[in-house]
Amino acid sequence: MKENSPFDTKNLWTKDKDHVLHPWADLGTAREKGSLIIAKSEGIYVYDSDGKKYIDGPGGMWCTQIGYGRREMAEAIADQVLSMPYYSPFGELTSPPAAELAAKLAELAPGDLNRVFFTTGGSTANDSALRFVQFYFNYTGQPEKKHIITREEAYHGSTLLAASISGKMRDRKNFDLITDTIHHLPVPLPYRRPEGMSLEAFCDEKVADLENKILEIGPEKVACFIAEPVLASGGVIVPPPGYQKRTLEVCRKYGVIYISDEVVTGFGRLGHFFASEPVFDIVPDILICAKGLTSGYQPLGAVIISDKLFEKVSGSAARGVIFSNGFTYSGHPVACAAALKNIEIIEREDICGHVREVGPYFMERLKALAELPIVGDVRGSHLMGAFECVTDKASKEPLPADIQVADRIDRHCQARGLILRPLDHMCILSPPLVIREEQIDTMVGIIRDSIEATITELGEEGLWKG
Ligand SMILES: Cc1ncc(COP(=O)(O)O)c(C=O)c1O
Repeated sequence: MKENSPFDTKNLWTKDKDHVLHPWADLGTAREKGSLIIAKSEGIYVYDSDGKKYIDGPGGMWCTQIGYGRREMAEAIADQVLSMPYYSPFGELTSPPAAELAAKLAELAPGDLNRVFFTTGGSTANDSALRFVQFYFNYTGQPEKKHIITREEAYHGSTLLAASISGKMRDRKNFDLITDTIHHLPVPLPYRRPEGMSLEAFCDEKVADLENKILEIGPEKVACFIAEPVLASGGVIVPPPGYQKRTLEVCRKYGVIYISDEVVTGFGRLGHFFASEPVFDIVPDILICAKGLTSGYQPLGAVIISDKLFEKVSGSAARGVIFSNGFTYSGHPVACAAALKNIEIIEREDICGHVREVGPYFMERLKALAELPIVGDVRGSHLMGAFECVTDKASKEPLPADIQVADRIDRHCQARGLILRPLDHMCILSPPLVIREEQIDTMVGIIRDSIEATITELGEEGLWKG
């Protein structure tokens, strides 16, 4: 046990290593390697069980918007636990925080997105949205509308349905997924568009991919298109300008429901509570949120459904029709109380305005990393960013997987007091939204030093010549 640390790191490390199966665990090393134990947090910082301090580069997992250690959050959660920790949300039962939060989300969401279905997180929200779409078309007499269009490199979650609409090849290995009614379009990644193709022409091509796919399947069979406005875990892929609006127009033309997965882009990450309308000029038919909804203080997700859709499946004609989908913890009162307090803090401190201010500064600082020899592309928007490591800038060929370049950079960053999110040959950043300019400088400075240390290391091991 380290001096001044209340934690017995060795003991915890052993228990975790011997008993926990972690999400996305590398099973080849899981039984030996073990995990870094994050034991404490404050503001934009986390501390390991030995007391070492790190900047939280990934914001937990794209979610710690208001930062750690907010007493008001603890009090709101404690008050709700003491007044009523839980009651069933099924049928005609609700709780004060769930009712208040649903109304607040309806107020924050654009257009006629006014009907909220609560879930336990983002995966269950996407799963529930797709079940609602199924239910909607079956009930309204269009049962042949079963096909779902999504994109390669998308990430929508880990239930069977949410994993099936996700597109990362690495995550599809060794699993059985639904494939007969789910279609993946090529990813709208401007960096890898064909040599010489303009962004406008690339956008035309990606929009045409959607229209052609709808026509190939038959519009009468296509239920919905689901899209993250910016693909997050796929590597912070910002589609070409106009893509979101034009794909929505295609969906409207063919009677295809448009689902915007704002699990990452929501709650201030792009400078607005929801990015769909103010950033991308779209009002989707269904909007998904989770993560930043509670800033990670409690697990919660929500499906926000348009009145236009909900009216068709409710009212006197629907008497006795049951939407039999839900979870014991749908609209959990403690999670909803946390979300209400979180939203109050974001509004009171104008955290969205702060992101609109520091976001461009963060991107400018991050983009300067492109001058380093292994950095091929730096991309993102506001407080979500990523960089790709390539063999050479002209070919854009990713550094080979076995070099594990992102893991190496992460290791160097950790030694210098920053946690990154390594992903294949990419590193991802989505810090807490309360980060200040001087903290951004420190963070990007550590990344630069760590990339340089990685380049030296790769050179010494004969893995990269430059
Ligand atoms: C865009 C998006 N949708 C859905 C999910 C799944 O959310 P959860 O992990 O809360 O189930 C994620 C998680 O990273 C995500 O990034």
